Amino acid sequence: MKLSAEEKEMLAGNQGNAVKKSMEILVALGEIYGAEEMVPVSSVQVAGVSYHNLGDAGLEFLDELAKDGRVRVLTTLNPAGMDLKNWKNLGISPEFAEKQGLVINAFEKMGIVTTCTCTPYLIGNLPHFNENIAWSESSAVCFANSVLGARTNREGGPSALAAAFTGVTPKYGLHIDENRQAEAVVNVSAELKNIPDFGALGVVIGEKIKNKIPLIRGISEASTEQLKSFCASIATYGGTALFHMEGITPGRTEAPEEGTAVSIAVSQHEIDAAKKKLNDDVEADFVSIGCPHASLKEVAEIAKLLKGKKVKKEFWITTARPIKQTADMMGYTKTIEESGAKFACDTCCVVAPLKGRFRVLATDSAKGCYYARGKNQFKTKFKSVEGCVEEACK
Ligand code: F3S
Repeated sequence: MKLSAEEKEMLAGNQGNAVKKSMEILVALGEIYGAEEMVPVSSVQVAGVSYHNLGDAGLEFLDELAKDGRVRVLTTLNPAGMDLKNWKNLGISPEFAEKQGLVINAFEKMGIVTTCTCTPYLIGNLPHFNENIAWSESSAVCFANSVLGARTNREGGPSALAAAFTGVTPKYGLHIDENRQAEAVVNVSAELKNIPDFGALGVVIGEKIKNKIPLIRGISEASTEQLKSFCASIATYGGTALFHMEGITPGRTEAPEEGTAVSIAVSQHEIDAAKKKLNDDVEADFVSIGCPHASLKEVAEIAKLLKGKKVKKEFWITTARPIKQTADMMGYTKTIEESGAKFACDTCCVVAPLKGRFRVLATDSAKGCYYARGKNQFKTKFKSVEGCVEEACK
Protein backbone atom coordinates (compact mmCIF):
# COMPACT_ATOMS: atom_id res chain seq x y z
CA MET A 1 0.00 0.00 0.00
CA LYS A 2 1.10 3.54 -0.65
CA LEU A 3 1.33 5.26 2.76
CA SER A 4 1.73 8.98 3.44
CA ALA A 5 4.67 10.21 5.52
CA GLU A 6 2.45 10.50 8.57
CA GLU A 7 0.98 7.03 8.08
CA LYS A 8 4.53 5.65 7.88
CA GLU A 9 5.34 7.43 11.16
CA MET A 10 2.31 5.83 12.76
CA LEU A 11 3.34 2.39 11.52
CA ALA A 12 6.89 2.88 12.81
CA GLY A 13 5.53 3.47 16.31
CA ASN A 14 6.47 7.15 16.53
CA GLN A 15 2.96 8.07 17.66
CA GLY A 16 2.55 5.48 20.40
CA ASN A 17 1.71 1.84 20.75
CA ALA A 18 -2.07 1.97 20.13
CA VAL A 19 -1.53 3.93 16.91
CA LYS A 20 1.19 1.51 15.77
CA LYS A 21 -1.02 -1.53 16.44
CA SER A 22 -3.92 0.21 14.70
CA MET A 23 -1.89 0.99 11.60
CA GLU A 24 -0.69 -2.63 11.48
CA ILE A 25 -4.33 -3.80 11.51
CA LEU A 26 -5.34 -1.30 8.80
CA VAL A 27 -2.38 -2.11 6.52
CA ALA A 28 -3.05 -5.85 6.88
CA LEU A 29 -6.72 -5.30 6.02
CA GLY A 30 -5.82 -3.06 3.09
CA GLU A 31 -3.47 -5.71 1.72
CA ILE A 32 -6.06 -8.46 2.03
CA TYR A 33 -8.66 -6.40 0.16
CA GLY A 34 -6.31 -4.87 -2.42
CA ALA A 35 -6.49 -1.25 -1.22
CA GLU A 36 -3.86 1.03 -2.78
CA GLU A 37 -4.03 3.74 -0.13
CA MET A 38 -5.78 4.97 3.00
CA VAL A 39 -8.70 7.38 3.02
CA PRO A 40 -9.37 9.87 5.86
CA VAL A 41 -12.49 9.21 7.93
CA SER A 42 -14.50 11.76 9.89
CA SER A 43 -16.71 9.53 12.04
CA VAL A 44 -16.40 6.14 13.73
CA GLN A 45 -18.91 3.80 15.38
CA VAL A 46 -17.39 1.05 17.54
CA ALA A 47 -19.25 -2.23 18.18
CA GLY A 48 -18.17 -4.93 20.63
CA VAL A 49 -19.04 -3.07 23.82
CA SER A 50 -21.04 -5.61 25.83
CA TYR A 51 -18.98 -7.38 28.49
CA HIS A 52 -21.27 -10.34 27.77
CA ASN A 53 -19.54 -10.72 24.39
CA LEU A 54 -16.09 -9.30 25.23
CA GLY A 55 -15.27 -11.30 28.37
CA ASP A 56 -12.06 -10.71 30.33
CA ALA A 57 -9.83 -11.16 27.26
CA GLY A 58 -11.67 -8.35 25.46
CA LEU A 59 -11.46 -6.11 28.53
CA GLU A 60 -7.69 -6.68 28.77
CA PHE A 61 -7.28 -5.83 25.07
CA LEU A 62 -9.18 -2.54 25.57
CA ASP A 63 -7.23 -1.65 28.73
CA GLU A 64 -3.98 -2.12 26.84
CA LEU A 65 -5.14 0.15 23.98
CA ALA A 66 -6.46 2.75 26.43
CA LYS A 67 -2.94 3.29 27.86
CA ASP A 68 -2.05 5.64 25.02
CA GLY A 69 -4.79 5.33 22.37
CA ARG A 70 -6.84 8.50 21.86
CA VAL A 71 -9.45 8.96 19.13
CA ARG A 72 -8.87 11.60 16.44
CA VAL A 73 -12.44 11.82 15.10
CA LEU A 74 -15.97 11.76 16.52
CA THR A 75 -16.42 8.21 17.81
CA THR A 76 -19.52 6.67 19.39
CA LEU A 77 -20.24 3.27 20.92
CA ASN A 78 -22.69 0.49 20.16
CA PRO A 79 -24.99 -0.80 22.95
CA ALA A 80 -23.45 -2.25 26.09
CA GLY A 81 -24.71 -5.22 28.10
CA MET A 82 -26.74 -3.09 30.49
CA ASP A 83 -28.26 0.31 31.19
CA LEU A 84 -25.24 2.09 32.64
CA LYS A 85 -27.34 3.85 35.29
CA ASN A 86 -30.49 1.82 35.84
CA TRP A 87 -28.99 -1.69 35.64
CA LYS A 88 -30.26 -2.87 39.03
CA ASN A 89 -33.88 -2.22 38.14
CA LEU A 90 -33.41 -4.29 34.97
CA GLY A 91 -32.17 -7.35 36.86
CA ILE A 92 -28.45 -7.15 36.01
CA SER A 93 -26.04 -8.66 38.56
CA PRO A 94 -23.53 -6.43 40.42
CA GLU A 95 -20.65 -8.64 39.16
CA PHE A 96 -21.65 -8.06 35.53
CA ALA A 97 -22.23 -4.34 36.18
CA GLU A 98 -18.73 -3.95 37.60
CA LYS A 99 -17.07 -5.55 34.57
CA GLN A 100 -19.25 -3.61 32.11
CA GLY A 101 -18.30 -0.41 33.95
CA LEU A 102 -14.59 -1.22 33.43
CA VAL A 103 -15.18 -1.65 29.69
CA ILE A 104 -16.87 1.75 29.50
CA ASN A 105 -14.05 3.36 31.54
CA ALA A 106 -11.52 2.08 29.00
CA PHE A 107 -13.50 3.59 26.10
CA GLU A 108 -13.92 6.85 28.00
CA LYS A 109 -10.17 7.08 28.52
CA MET A 110 -9.74 6.82 24.73
CA GLY A 111 -11.92 9.93 24.26
CA ILE A 112 -14.92 8.05 22.87
CA VAL A 113 -18.42 9.46 23.46
CA THR A 114 -19.74 6.79 25.82
CA THR A 115 -23.34 7.06 24.77
CA CYS A 116 -24.04 3.47 23.81
CA THR A 117 -26.41 3.22 20.87
CA CYS A 118 -26.80 1.48 17.53
CA THR A 119 -28.51 4.59 16.10
CA PRO A 120 -25.65 7.12 16.44
CA TYR A 121 -27.21 9.02 13.51
CA LEU A 122 -30.16 9.93 15.77
CA ILE A 123 -27.98 11.53 18.43
CA GLY A 124 -25.49 13.65 16.53
CA ASN A 125 -23.05 11.26 14.87
CA LEU A 126 -24.60 12.04 11.50
CA PRO A 127 -22.33 11.80 8.45
CA HIS A 128 -23.46 13.38 5.19
CA PHE A 129 -23.61 12.20 1.58
CA ASN A 130 -20.29 10.80 0.25
CA GLU A 131 -18.50 11.27 3.59
CA ASN A 132 -15.98 8.48 4.33
CA ILE A 133 -16.51 6.92 7.74
CA ALA A 134 -15.61 3.68 9.55
CA TRP A 135 -18.59 2.14 11.28
CA SER A 136 -19.28 -1.23 12.78
CA GLU A 137 -22.82 -2.49 13.66
CA SER A 138 -24.51 -3.96 10.61
CA SER A 139 -27.79 -2.01 10.88
CA ALA A 140 -26.04 1.34 11.33
CA VAL A 141 -23.61 0.57 8.49
CA CYS A 142 -26.53 -0.18 6.18
CA PHE A 143 -28.35 3.00 7.27
CA ALA A 144 -25.23 5.16 6.82
CA ASN A 145 -24.45 3.78 3.35
CA SER A 146 -27.99 3.61 2.03
CA VAL A 147 -30.15 6.23 3.70
CA LEU A 148 -27.45 8.85 4.37
CA GLY A 149 -25.26 8.05 1.37
CA ALA A 150 -22.07 8.04 3.48
CA ARG A 151 -19.35 5.47 2.71
CA THR A 152 -18.27 2.69 5.02
CA ASN A 153 -17.38 -0.96 4.87
CA ARG A 154 -18.79 -3.27 7.53
CA GLU A 155 -16.04 -2.80 10.10
CA GLY A 156 -15.41 -5.04 13.06
CA GLY A 157 -14.83 -3.54 16.53
CA PRO A 158 -10.97 -3.63 16.29
CA SER A 159 -10.78 -2.16 12.75
CA ALA A 160 -13.24 0.62 13.70
CA LEU A 161 -11.14 1.45 16.77
CA ALA A 162 -8.00 1.42 14.62
CA ALA A 163 -9.63 3.97 12.28
CA ALA A 164 -10.56 6.13 15.28
CA PHE A 165 -6.94 6.16 16.58
CA THR A 166 -5.42 6.96 13.19
CA GLY A 167 -8.18 8.91 11.42
CA VAL A 168 -7.90 6.71 8.30
CA THR A 169 -9.15 3.43 6.85
CA PRO A 170 -8.04 1.42 3.81
CA LYS A 171 -9.72 2.59 0.61
CA TYR A 172 -11.51 -0.44 -0.79
CA GLY A 173 -15.04 -1.85 -1.06
CA LEU A 174 -17.82 0.66 -0.41
CA HIS A 175 -15.40 3.62 -0.24
CA ILE A 176 -15.05 3.29 -4.03
CA ASP A 177 -17.73 4.67 -6.30
CA GLU A 178 -17.96 1.78 -8.78
CA ASN A 179 -18.45 -0.74 -5.96
CA ARG A 180 -21.64 1.01 -4.87
CA GLN A 181 -23.69 0.22 -7.92
CA ALA A 182 -26.73 -2.05 -7.67
CA GLU A 183 -26.17 -5.72 -8.50
CA ALA A 184 -29.80 -6.86 -8.27
CA VAL A 185 -33.17 -5.36 -9.13
CA VAL A 186 -36.01 -5.97 -6.69
CA ASN A 187 -39.56 -5.12 -7.72
CA VAL A 188 -41.85 -4.87 -4.71
CA SER A 189 -45.60 -5.21 -5.16
CA ALA A 190 -46.80 -5.20 -1.56
CA GLU A 191 -48.46 -2.69 0.69
CA LEU A 192 -46.02 -1.68 3.43
CA LYS A 193 -47.75 0.11 6.27
CA ASN A 194 -45.75 -0.25 9.45
CA ILE A 195 -42.38 -1.16 10.95
CA PRO A 196 -42.92 -4.96 10.89
CA ASP A 197 -43.89 -4.72 7.19
CA PHE A 198 -40.51 -3.11 6.44
CA GLY A 199 -38.79 -5.62 8.73
CA ALA A 200 -40.44 -8.47 6.82
CA LEU A 201 -39.38 -6.87 3.52
CA GLY A 202 -35.79 -6.98 4.78
CA VAL A 203 -36.21 -10.67 5.65
CA VAL A 204 -37.55 -11.56 2.19
CA ILE A 205 -35.02 -9.52 0.18
CA GLY A 206 -32.11 -10.46 2.45
CA GLU A 207 -32.81 -14.18 2.14
CA LYS A 208 -33.12 -13.90 -1.65
CA ILE A 209 -30.12 -11.75 -2.55
CA LYS A 210 -27.76 -12.41 0.40
CA ASN A 211 -25.08 -9.69 0.40
CA LYS A 212 -25.66 -8.24 -3.08
CA ILE A 213 -26.52 -4.54 -3.46
CA PRO A 214 -30.19 -4.28 -4.46
CA LEU A 215 -31.97 -1.54 -6.35
CA ILE A 216 -35.44 -1.67 -4.81
CA ARG A 217 -38.40 -0.39 -6.81
CA GLY A 218 -42.08 0.00 -6.03
CA ILE A 219 -41.95 1.71 -2.62
CA SER A 220 -43.55 5.14 -2.64
CA GLU A 221 -42.73 6.27 0.90
CA ALA A 222 -40.80 5.17 3.98
CA SER A 223 -40.23 6.91 7.31
CA THR A 224 -36.87 7.08 9.10
CA GLU A 225 -38.15 4.49 11.59
CA GLN A 226 -39.28 2.12 8.84
CA LEU A 227 -35.94 2.47 7.03
CA LYS A 228 -34.08 1.92 10.30
CA SER A 229 -35.96 -1.34 10.79
CA PHE A 230 -35.48 -2.38 7.16
CA CYS A 231 -31.71 -1.76 7.40
CA ALA A 232 -31.42 -3.96 10.50
CA SER A 233 -33.45 -6.69 8.90
CA ILE A 234 -31.84 -6.85 5.44
CA ALA A 235 -28.37 -6.73 7.03
CA THR A 236 -29.26 -9.55 9.41
CA TYR A 237 -31.10 -11.89 7.07
CA GLY A 238 -28.94 -11.19 4.02
CA GLY A 239 -25.72 -9.44 5.00
CA THR A 240 -25.98 -6.50 2.65
CA ALA A 241 -24.33 -3.23 3.71
CA LEU A 242 -25.92 -1.04 1.03
CA PHE A 243 -29.18 -0.82 -0.88
CA HIS A 244 -30.76 1.76 -3.14
CA MET A 245 -34.48 2.47 -2.91
CA GLU A 246 -35.78 4.34 -5.93
CA GLY A 247 -37.18 7.76 -5.01
CA ILE A 248 -36.14 7.39 -1.36
CA THR A 249 -32.39 6.94 -0.89
CA PRO A 250 -29.80 9.38 -2.32
CA GLY A 251 -27.37 6.93 -3.96
CA ARG A 252 -26.99 5.64 -7.51
CA THR A 253 -30.31 4.43 -8.79
CA GLU A 254 -29.34 3.56 -12.32
CA ALA A 255 -30.20 -0.06 -13.06
CA PRO A 256 -27.36 -2.52 -13.30
CA GLU A 257 -26.30 -3.43 -16.81
CA GLU A 258 -28.80 -5.57 -18.68
CA GLY A 259 -28.01 -9.25 -18.32
CA THR A 260 -25.53 -8.83 -15.44
CA ALA A 261 -27.98 -8.43 -12.59
CA VAL A 262 -30.30 -10.73 -10.72
CA SER A 263 -33.91 -9.57 -10.96
CA ILE A 264 -36.45 -10.64 -8.35
CA ALA A 265 -40.00 -9.79 -7.30
CA VAL A 266 -41.44 -9.51 -3.79
CA SER A 267 -45.17 -10.11 -3.36
CA GLN A 268 -47.63 -9.37 -0.58
CA HIS A 269 -47.89 -13.09 0.03
CA GLU A 270 -44.15 -13.33 0.77
CA ILE A 271 -44.29 -10.39 3.21
CA ASP A 272 -47.22 -12.00 5.05
CA ALA A 273 -45.48 -15.37 5.13
CA ALA A 274 -42.26 -13.84 6.53
CA LYS A 275 -44.27 -12.17 9.32
CA LYS A 276 -46.11 -15.39 10.10
CA LYS A 277 -42.85 -17.34 10.35
CA LEU A 278 -41.62 -15.04 13.14
CA ASN A 279 -44.86 -15.39 15.13
CA ASP A 280 -44.94 -18.39 17.46
CA ASP A 281 -48.32 -19.39 18.80
CA VAL A 282 -47.56 -18.71 22.48
CA GLU A 283 -48.00 -15.84 24.89
CA ALA A 284 -45.05 -13.50 25.45
CA ASP A 285 -43.47 -13.00 28.88
CA PHE A 286 -41.13 -10.21 27.73
CA VAL A 287 -41.80 -7.25 25.45
CA SER A 288 -39.06 -5.10 23.94
CA ILE A 289 -39.28 -2.24 21.46
CA GLY A 290 -36.25 -0.39 20.13
CA CYS A 291 -34.18 -2.65 17.87
CA PRO A 292 -32.51 -0.65 16.39
CA HIS A 293 -32.73 1.84 19.26
CA ALA A 294 -36.02 3.74 19.36
CA SER A 295 -36.28 7.26 17.96
CA LEU A 296 -37.99 10.07 19.85
CA LYS A 297 -41.00 9.65 17.57
CA GLU A 298 -41.29 5.98 18.53
CA VAL A 299 -40.96 6.82 22.22
CA ALA A 300 -43.73 9.42 21.89
CA GLU A 301 -45.92 6.84 20.16
CA ILE A 302 -45.32 4.26 22.90
CA ALA A 303 -46.16 6.86 25.58
CA LYS A 304 -49.41 7.64 23.77
CA LEU A 305 -50.35 3.97 23.59
CA LEU A 306 -49.46 3.28 27.25
CA LYS A 307 -51.20 6.31 28.73
CA GLY A 308 -53.49 5.20 31.58
CA LYS A 309 -52.63 1.49 31.15
CA LYS A 310 -50.70 -0.95 33.33
CA VAL A 311 -48.34 -3.49 31.83
CA LYS A 312 -48.41 -7.02 33.22
CA LYS A 313 -45.14 -8.21 31.69
CA GLU A 314 -41.54 -7.03 31.71
CA PHE A 315 -41.51 -4.34 29.00
CA TRP A 316 -38.31 -2.63 27.84
CA ILE A 317 -37.97 0.38 25.59
CA THR A 318 -34.37 0.35 24.39
CA THR A 319 -32.96 3.64 23.24
CA ALA A 320 -30.02 6.03 23.40
CA ARG A 321 -29.70 8.00 26.63
CA PRO A 322 -30.01 11.42 24.92
CA ILE A 323 -33.37 10.29 23.45
CA LYS A 324 -34.54 9.25 26.93
CA GLN A 325 -33.37 12.59 28.33
CA THR A 326 -35.54 14.39 25.79
CA ALA A 327 -38.40 12.01 26.66
CA ASP A 328 -37.91 13.03 30.34
CA MET A 329 -38.32 16.69 29.36
CA MET A 330 -41.42 15.97 27.29
CA GLY A 331 -43.19 13.93 30.02
CA TYR A 332 -43.10 10.72 27.93
CA THR A 333 -40.91 8.98 30.50
CA LYS A 334 -43.39 9.68 33.30
CA THR A 335 -46.29 8.23 31.28
CA ILE A 336 -44.27 5.18 30.27
CA GLU A 337 -42.93 4.48 33.76
CA GLU A 338 -46.35 4.95 35.37
CA SER A 339 -47.56 2.06 33.22
CA GLY A 340 -44.80 -0.16 34.62
CA ALA A 341 -42.80 -0.27 31.37
CA LYS A 342 -39.07 0.50 31.69
CA PHE A 343 -36.48 2.35 29.70
CA ALA A 344 -33.35 0.35 29.05
CA CYS A 345 -30.84 2.90 27.75
CA ASP A 346 -27.37 1.98 26.46
CA THR A 347 -28.35 -1.66 25.88
CA CYS A 348 -30.80 -3.92 24.05
CA CYS A 349 -32.58 -7.25 24.30
CA VAL A 350 -29.84 -8.92 22.25
CA VAL A 351 -26.62 -7.73 23.93
CA ALA A 352 -27.93 -7.83 27.53
CA PRO A 353 -27.40 -11.16 29.33
CA LEU A 354 -31.03 -12.37 29.16
CA LYS A 355 -30.73 -16.06 28.29
CA GLY A 356 -32.85 -18.10 30.70
CA ARG A 357 -34.68 -15.08 32.14
CA PHE A 358 -37.58 -15.18 29.66
CA ARG A 359 -39.17 -17.64 27.25
CA VAL A 360 -41.07 -15.58 24.67
CA LEU A 361 -40.16 -12.14 23.30
CA ALA A 362 -42.72 -9.84 21.68
CA THR A 363 -41.11 -7.18 19.50
CA ASP A 364 -41.66 -5.13 16.35
CA SER A 365 -38.12 -5.95 15.17
CA ALA A 366 -37.34 -8.75 12.70
CA LYS A 367 -33.68 -8.50 13.72
CA GLY A 368 -34.71 -8.79 17.38
CA CYS A 369 -36.61 -12.00 16.54
CA TYR A 370 -33.60 -13.47 14.73
CA TYR A 371 -31.27 -13.04 17.70
CA ALA A 372 -33.89 -13.83 20.34
CA ARG A 373 -34.33 -17.21 18.68
CA GLY A 374 -30.72 -17.88 17.75
CA LYS A 375 -28.85 -16.44 20.70
CA ASN A 376 -31.28 -16.62 23.61
CA GLN A 377 -33.43 -19.57 22.48
CA PHE A 378 -36.61 -17.52 23.02
CA LYS A 379 -39.77 -18.01 21.03
CA THR A 380 -40.99 -14.81 19.33
CA LYS A 381 -44.08 -12.74 18.60
CA PHE A 382 -43.51 -10.29 15.75
CA LYS A 383 -46.03 -7.47 16.12
CA SER A 384 -46.65 -3.81 15.44
CA VAL A 385 -45.98 -1.30 18.24
CA GLU A 386 -49.72 -1.38 19.04
CA GLY A 387 -49.62 -5.20 19.11
CA CYS A 388 -46.59 -5.18 21.44
CA VAL A 389 -48.32 -2.80 23.84
CA GLU A 390 -51.45 -5.01 23.80
CA GLU A 391 -49.29 -8.08 24.48
CA ALA A 392 -47.63 -6.28 27.42
CA CYS A 393 -50.98 -5.35 28.97
CA LYS A 394 -52.61 -8.81 28.58
FE1 F3S B 1 -29.28 -2.37 18.00
FE2 F3S B 1 -29.28 -4.36 19.65
FE3 F3S B 1 -30.93 -4.35 17.62
S1 F3S B 1 -27.51 -3.33 18.87
S2 F3S B 1 -29.91 -3.19 16.04
S3 F3S B 1 -30.94 -2.92 19.35
S4 F3S B 1 -29.72 -6.06 18.29
